[in-house]
Amino acid sequence: MAASFTLSLAAAAGGGALLFRQLFDADTGTFTYLLADVPSRWGVVIDPVFDQHPRDLSLVRELGIALVASIDTHAHADHVTGSWLMHRATGCAIGLAAAADAENVTLPLVHGDRLHFGERWLEVRSTPGHTNGCLTYVLDDHSIAFTGDALLVRSCGRCDFQQGNAQTLWASITGQILTLPDSCLLYPGHDYAGRTVSSVVEEKAFNVRLGGAATERDFVGHMTHMSLPHPGRIAIALPGNLRSGKPLQPVSTDEWAPVVHSYAGLPELPPAWVSDHRHQLTLVDVRSSEEFHGPDGHLQGSLLIPLPELAARRAEIPGDRPLVLLCHSGSRSALATQQLLKAGHQRVANLHGGLHRWEAEGYPLDGLAAP
Ligand SMILES: [Fe+2]
Repeated sequence: MAASFTLSLAAAAGGGALLFRQLFDADTGTFTYLLADVPSRWGVVIDPVFDQHPRDLSLVRELGIALVASIDTHAHADHVTGSWLMHRATGCAIGLAAAADAENVTLPLVHGDRLHFGERWLEVRSTPGHTNGCLTYVLDDHSIAFTGDALLVRSCGRCDFQQGNAQTLWASITGQILTLPDSCLLYPGHDYAGRTVSSVVEEKAFNVRLGGAATERDFVGHMTHMSLPHPGRIAIALPGNLRSGKPLQPVSTDEWAPVVHSYAGLPELPPAWVSDHRHQLTLVDVRSSEEFHGPDGHLQGSLLIPLPELAARRAEIPGDRPLVLLCHSGSRSALATQQLLKAGHQRVANLHGGLHRWEAEGYPLDGLAAP
């Protein structure tokens, strides 16, 4: 499994040495980025969102990435960072500008630092003006930069609170970002209209605030007369970010089982745990009756309800125990799991890999055909 997946990970990276993923939080319009050096699998996550932590962690785990650090471009005012949660889950460092002076930061960053992950690295550039701790992270070959809110697609971050200063932002953008190669791709911290990426040459030409013939005077004139409403979430987001996203109250971990949420959003359990706890569970097999009673075998004590009959026969499922859904590969039972969750069942999970993996890992089946 590991060897073949190494190949698929390289293919997923486009055959190159860098894996790159852009993730989106629709609630706050925030982009999160995952980078990894494919040969070594060391990686970095940039600007994770607290509420999206299960999604981000599942992707890191499914791709087998060992995180060096979770880093933020600045102390955000509109969402809480997921950095502390990622640190707790993976042991990675928490990186933020030293100038932000936030708690729980283990990697205080300053201009000129290099953050290595495997054979690749990010160059840290100080780009204040939106906040005084804004950083832009530039990939080693200057092909990609992560600009946070300093420079957005055809726009830029506001300068009217959180130590913002339009003159400072002008100097940062023109001195540290637009001096990168014209072809350098620019990935922003936010977008609210579906724009995902830009480039230096595009922003020089078309950025409505500073592109074309705009001067510093034009830019400052634009930025100081915007009359924006106060950010609605700042009272919660900023204090949270000054703790690197560590909650004030302990995070509850009273799950009924060590459920792993896949990147597809599916709660799953491994065969080993299901085998150890099978007498405390209701196992529901959603294959056909022919498969259940056929040569592939079945799990002793499992309840047969074929997937097409599940909705009509839900009342037959005992309500006193957690449910584990299973089929041959985990595909049909994935749909069954989703259907039962949607119908209101709380403690439901899919058997990861189905009976195929169950058997491959050496757990017993009943009714198997003789070899
Ligand atoms: Fe911001």
